[in-house]
Amino acid sequence: MQTQRLILTGDPAHDDALIRQASAIIRAGGLVAFPTETVYGLGADAFNPSAVRRIFEVKRRPAWDPLIVHIISREQLLLLIDELPHQADALLQRFMPGPLTLVLKRSERVSDLITAGRDTVAVRMPAHPVAQALIRMSETPIAAPSANRFGRPSPTCADHVLHDLGGEIEAVLDAGETPVGVESTIVDLTTTPPTLLRPGGVSLEALEEVIGTVRVFAEVVQEGQPLPSPGTSPRHYAPQVPVLLCAPEPSVLYGAVRDALSQHEWVGVMRPEGWRIPSHRRVIAFEWGRWGDWEGLARRLFEGLRWLEAQQVHAIVCPLPPAEGLGRAMRDRLERASA
Ligand code: TXA
Ligand code: MG
Repeated sequence: MQTQRLILTGDPAHDDALIRQASAIIRAGGLVAFPTETVYGLGADAFNPSAVRRIFEVKRRPAWDPLIVHIISREQLLLLIDELPHQADALLQRFMPGPLTLVLKRSERVSDLITAGRDTVAVRMPAHPVAQALIRMSETPIAAPSANRFGRPSPTCADHVLHDLGGEIEAVLDAGETPVGVESTIVDLTTTPPTLLRPGGVSLEALEEVIGTVRVFAEVVQEGQPLPSPGTSPRHYAPQVPVLLCAPEPSVLYGAVRDALSQHEWVGVMRPEGWRIPSHRRVIAFEWGRWGDWEGLARRLFEGLRWLEAQQVHAIVCPLPPAEGLGRAMRDRLERASA
């Protein structure tokens, strides 16, 4: 199969025609990768079981890992759940559309494939105009995991999608880089208090302002234990090379790169602007951005990991951001990548 790359230009008439073409593929049971404000998703009609099954096949994703359903409206939400809890309503008003996913008690209409047999469903209303137009024109909720091969870093541009899934999906809507760069925050509202399953684009502090105390799901999970969210398994966002984390100090990074050079031939570095690293022909740096600009760094995190991997380095050295704002989401992904 040849994957069509549908390149959006910003011209409304042109883009509309391409998104309509993509929605026709969704309606016919095909798979389309599309941009959201967080990362690219791999979409299928949530009410077409054979299309949903194909998502798992092309991603090589195990059937026990449930999918997020993307919606455009409250009406679509009510197709997926029987009852809208008060806290969900409050979060909906404050953060949706936006990079937030709610885990709610599901209705009977949602297939077991999507929920992996659970009695809950994860729903999200993306803020990206292309995602919104695609769902609207498809006239159905769209089930979509991140559009990467299972276990790889999420894709933040169409090239990443094509690298992992090219030739296996019908099309990718290419709208350039995604603005947030890390996946949505996932909060489970079926527990008391609610549980943060994955830190992401909406900060814990912002959530707690609206719904009060949120329990943070314990970071370290024993291998083989049942997981509240399968994506919380220790090794999830894994590039193919080891990621070596270090404390966020220029001198510590310098030393960590030198240590890595004694163990590995080619060493990649996620380098914050202005931080000195050993100049050595076996060191390759990704110019990550200004330390402290957590939004800018989050936008380029997966791009950097993928780029260094493509340079065929044998290890990646990376300073670990603090747990504030989007720093918490980056820490989470990096700790899993290094597990
Ligand atoms: O930003 C995002 O959330 C992106 C874009 C495409 O929307 N999507 C994304 O999907 O990251 P995915 O499948 O890569 O990660 C979704 C996570 C998985 O770890 C899955 O286990 C968890 O959500 N999840 C899905 N349904 C769940 C449920 N009913 N209960 C608990 N966790 C669930
Ligand atoms: Mg994913």
